[in-house]
Amino acid sequence: MIRKKTWIFVVSAALLLFIQFIPIDRSNPSETAEFAAPRELTDILRRSCYDCHSNETIWPWYSRIAPVSWLVAHDVHEGREHLNFSIWDGYSEEKKAKLRKEIQEEAREGEMPPFQYSSIHPAARLNERDKRVLGDWIEGESKYMGDAR
Ligand code: HEC
Repeated sequence: MIRKKTWIFVVSAALLLFIQFIPIDRSNPSETAEFAAPRELTDILRRSCYDCHSNETIWPWYSRIAPVSWLVAHDVHEGREHLNFSIWDGYSEEKKAKLRKEIQEEAREGEMPPFQYSSIHPAARLNERDKRVLGDWIEGESKYMGDAR
């Protein structure tokens, strides 16, 4: 008789193996309208936001192993859908203004980068200086575009 525990182990292992074959889209679409800004700002965005909000995602090794890969891919696909710096210049002025406000809010409240990401990538956390650079960009652009609050 095979023990119950052994069965549970065999079935779980088979399941884990099986789910590795479920295809996941880990593609990085090519750039279309790259975000142009001073280096000081793009460095922060690249370090803290680009993995989910650009077409230049660096897919880590664990993004190859299901079911973690599903969570990573979900964050990237949803992140890009909401805000993608790689196609920033293609957004309408209204959309850019709306996104700038949201970026400032998310940064100020410490909502972005998300906790599950910043706990694995501590260097991605925004410090006070990063927040100031982001804030200055947003305030500056808002004045320039005439949507200053
Ligand atoms: C681990 C992936 C990940 C990283 C890294 C990340 N984000 Fe996000 N972001 C998401 C996801 C997923 C959403 C959509 C769901 C949500 O709002 O939580 C989102 C939503 C947003 C939104 C809301 C857009 C809208 O239309 O409502 C803003 C603004 C934003 N992120 C800014 C940033 C900024 C700025 C950074 C870097 C400091 C950053 N994010 C880093 C995954 C990420």
